[in-house]
Amino acid sequence: MSFKIGFIGAGNMGRAIASGLVAKGICAPADLRCVSASGKGAEIMAQKTGGSVAASKRELIENSDVVILAFKPQHLETITKEEANALAGKLVISVLAGRTLESMQAVAPDAANLVRVMPNTPSQIGKGVSTYCFSKDPSAQEKETVEAILSSLGTAYEVAEEQLHIATVINGCGPAFYFRIVQLLGEAAEKRGLDKTLAMKLAAETAIGSMELFNASGRDPQDLIDEVVSPNGVTHALLTSLDRNGFPQIMDTSAGDAVSRSVELSQSK
Ligand SMILES: NC(=O)c1ccc[n+]([C@@H]2O[C@H](COP(=O)([O-])OP(=O)(O)OC[C@H]3O[C@@H](n4cnc5c(N)ncnc54)[C@H](OP(=O)(O)O)[C@@H]3O)[C@@H](O)[C@H]2O)c1
Repeated sequence: MSFKIGFIGAGNMGRAIASGLVAKGICAPADLRCVSASGKGAEIMAQKTGGSVAASKRELIENSDVVILAFKPQHLETITKEEANALAGKLVISVLAGRTLESMQAVAPDAANLVRVMPNTPSQIGKGVSTYCFSKDPSAQEKETVEAILSSLGTAYEVAEEQLHIATVINGCGPAFYFRIVQLLGEAAEKRGLDKTLAMKLAAETAIGSMELFNASGRDPQDLIDEVVSPNGVTHALLTSLDRNGFPQIMDTSAGDAVSRSVELSQSK
């Protein structure tokens, strides 16, 4: 598979995708072009990947099969009519948080297909999880191209657009949630006399190992929990305290609040 890819916006997320594409051999450096607002991000992307900086957005679009929108969500409407015309027949992939397929359609009505992606920050090291949806049923080639591009970030799962709000809370916000757990366990350990840095390492490595076990075993989380708990033991005390202090309700309410915020943000754009 070979395609020419153009990045509009070349910041953290754009560079993570571009670096992954080249590192995994999904795209040859000669087929990768980019453009950014000041040119700064594009220069860095070109240096990192061996790709080149396009003279303008229009020139980049005209010379690309796939166009990735990787600028801030509020800049979607800066795409001009001329650029929109150039997007006709192209596969357009957006990582713009909260921007719906409908709002993309308004900007690029004649694109061959539009893809809305929610990536996450571990994408920077190729360990991300993305969720995505198409504006219309993709051709086999479009599907293959999108899957190849997203595989450069880690794993990817297609969901219906209305489910993206829920998925966003899990894969998009998820890294912040897990970092917060590591931070809080570090603080709790430090208060009780264990070095905070060591405690955070123990927490992170335990999380990685546990999740790898979960994925490899295909077992239910409760089954794996039961393997750790013994009656009236330490884990039992921990889990009982979490339940007594409302952890399940906190998880449910917090996830619900975040889903509501995602819906609210997508409606305000
Ligand atoms: N970072 C994440 O973890 C993450 C996760 C999920 C989704 N996203 C989404 O990814 C997108 C990019 O985020 P980021 O973190 O990569 O942002 P960023 O680091 O601030 O980079 C933004 C890039 O967009 C360029 N730019 C600004 N205005 C532009 C315009 N009008 N036209 C074309 N390019 C423009 C900037 O140009 P210069 O370099 O020249 O200044 C820069 O290269 C956002 O929409 C965000 O919602 C990010």
